[in-house]
Amino acid sequence: MSSVKNMPSDSLGIQDARTGKNYSFPVEQGHLRAVDLEQVKTSDTDPGLVSYDPGLINTAICKSRITYIDGERGILRYRGYPIEEIAEKKSYLEVAHLLVKGEFPSPSEMSDWEHNITYHTLLHENLKVFMGGFRYDAHPMGILVGTLGALSTFYPDAKNVRDEESRRLQIYRLIAKIPTIAAFAYRHSQGRDYIDPSNDLSYAENFLSITFRPSVSTRYEVNPELAKALDVLFVLHADHEQNCSTNAMRAVASSLADPYSCAAAAAAALYGPLHGGANEAVVQMLREIGSVDKVPDIIRDVKAGKRRLMGFGHRVYHNYDPRAKIIKKMAGKVFEIRGTNPLLDIALELERIALSDEYFISRHLYPNVDFYSGLIYQSMGFPTDMFPVLFAIPRMSGWLAQWQEGVMDPEQKIVRPKQIYLGPAERHL
Ligand code: CMC
Repeated sequence: MSSVKNMPSDSLGIQDARTGKNYSFPVEQGHLRAVDLEQVKTSDTDPGLVSYDPGLINTAICKSRITYIDGERGILRYRGYPIEEIAEKKSYLEVAHLLVKGEFPSPSEMSDWEHNITYHTLLHENLKVFMGGFRYDAHPMGILVGTLGALSTFYPDAKNVRDEESRRLQIYRLIAKIPTIAAFAYRHSQGRDYIDPSNDLSYAENFLSITFRPSVSTRYEVNPELAKALDVLFVLHADHEQNCSTNAMRAVASSLADPYSCAAAAAAALYGPLHGGANEAVVQMLREIGSVDKVPDIIRDVKAGKRRLMGFGHRVYHNYDPRAKIIKKMAGKVFEIRGTNPLLDIALELERIALSDEYFISRHLYPNVDFYSGLIYQSMGFPTDMFPVLFAIPRMSGWLAQWQEGVMDPEQKIVRPKQIYLGPAERHL
């Protein structure tokens, strides 16, 4: 306790009007330690002041060196590199290396990295049987969540999360296997046989090939421009600091659960329509609108609070999502190859009206990453229920980078938030 006048300059002074007491809390790198608030008490029996923050809107849960976002200025950087430069010049696997290891790989590091990832793409035959147990109409994201969880039983060595070598191996396995699981989930829903990965193809080419090749005995030529477009989408989705699914990954990891169980939890969080499920919801919404002349009707419903405009708004960006800008440009290229998507005109009209409407302007609601990505996936031939799975494939590298950082951080503790209890006081039967 000290008087506000004599406080050090790198501190925050608080006067508690309830008691008249003054407090001084250190401020370091723009943050206050929430635990310091416990000192603020009205009596000896008071457990101390708590910050109430549903949705963790203004609570930092970790210190991280991976991804930087400035939501006001629409900036996104991975390990310091602007997303625009990375999307133009780097492949997804190079970006995954950057996220997980801190730097882009040298040519020899890249060849080791690629080798190690392609070496682990196959799935255990029993896992294929496990996936075969899902109903024919199971949502592929449900299959992904279940299969990621099941993987933990195949690799009990993954429990050694404090062991660097074990962590390295699980990172290879998870980045390598998620496209295979995703492709099998799709093929399961189509009643098609599973096709093992082709390790002579690039990461995106292999995924397209094992997803769309009609059968093991037929040839399938991947369009290199579509593979490139998918690779850029992978780069854009690779990490996004402490979003809902990454928070799930870190929260489960804080109990030292194995990374497969953590990844299953992260994928489950991504499944929801307010997060990775939004791209699917956007296309459903555009289909429901049906034609450009119906756009004003939906805008009216949104403004009346009857529904949300899916693919709009973001917790962090109060300016245009920088990923959406890149995706919008890329959509044009994909439509040149595959023919235009009839829903595009509706999306463009929706964006035009929303961006000039006071309701959306005053709430800083701009298109986010999911607004155009669904249209691209649809043009590539993916059914809508595969969209969140396509988000999960590249996000795996971000989840793993964050998992590793959390496990290695000596300041991290098991996640155990507080609550404000509003239930009955003690009572008796
Ligand atoms: N359509 C209409 N109004 C909206 C929307 C929207 N998409 N998003 C927010 N608002 C309004 C909301 O009604 C509220 O208005 P008011 O102040 O009058 O009550 C105001 O904007 C603030 O909304 P909020 O719910 O407090 O904002 P949030 O930061 O908690 O939510 C969000 C962020 C992304 C969940 C939300 O914008 C949303 O539901 N968007 C649609 C779903 C979507 O596209 N999700 C993908 C997010 S980007 C990729 C990812 O993270 O997975």
